[in-house]
Amino acid sequence: MLEVNGLDVFYGASQILFGVDLKVEKSQTMALLGRNGAGKSTTFKAIAGIVPPRRGEVRLGGDVISGRKPYRIARAGIGFVPEDRQVFPEHTVEDNLLIGMKKGPNGESHWTLERIYDIFPILASMRTRMAGRLSGGEQQMLTIARTLMGNPEILLLDEPSEGLAPIIVQSIGELIKQLREMGVTILLAEQNMHFCLGIATHATVVDKGQIVYRDTIEGLRANDAIKQRYLAI
Ligand SMILES: Nc1ncnc2c1ncn2[C@@H]1O[C@H](COP(=O)(O)OP(=O)(O)OP(=O)(O)O)[C@@H](O)[C@H]1O
Ligand SMILES: [Mg+2]
Repeated sequence: MLEVNGLDVFYGASQILFGVDLKVEKSQTMALLGRNGAGKSTTFKAIAGIVPPRRGEVRLGGDVISGRKPYRIARAGIGFVPEDRQVFPEHTVEDNLLIGMKKGPNGESHWTLERIYDIFPILASMRTRMAGRLSGGEQQMLTIARTLMGNPEILLLDEPSEGLAPIIVQSIGELIKQLREMGVTILLAEQNMHFCLGIATHATVVDKGQIVYRDTIEGLRANDAIKQRYLAI
């Protein structure tokens, strides 16, 4: 589904990513784990075309998408939910969802308002509320839902649990699990390994801009050395 090969990314003169390789198969939930500043968001921005890579390529369903403009990459099927979860604050919840509505790359329209409200009942009860009035957790749900309205091939979630209260983190986790069970392909960037253990199917660990480990989530769970070395706080 998604294949990242040998990605080098620079901010000005400083190199941030070094030959990043990443593969996500259809219906997997891949956790991209790493400490603060490891390069998770930069990897996502490179995939989404916001920070174009200097070397390497990104393929989606076999097609090379790197080098295209961000809106064309989105249209190709990359649904990116950035870490700063932006909603349109002066628009209602429902308008925010409608703004995100588009057909998938092959004309798919699996996601309708009805289906979104079914999975996100909290948004249904707030459909006429201004999005700027929602709590942080509700805004996170809304950005995920809005991105799904664009019928992406793969959903990129950048630290959806960040800065949210434990109870809200738990409901975001339940939601991601539900999407996984529906067969949605997900790439999930997280510092919080415990959040990912119950959610992801596979794990890739990034450290100082390099991929240092990849396995199933069970493999990671059992590997104390890797957890100690790269994921302990
Ligand atoms: N716009 C930028 N200009 C220069 N350096 C940057 C910029 N954005 C990020 N960096 C640097 O790139 C490195 C990787 O940052 P990145 O945001 O990808 O990390 P991250 O894994 O997402 O971390 P976090 O878990 O804190 O979100 C860091 O050293 C960071 O300081
Ligand atoms: Mg980040």
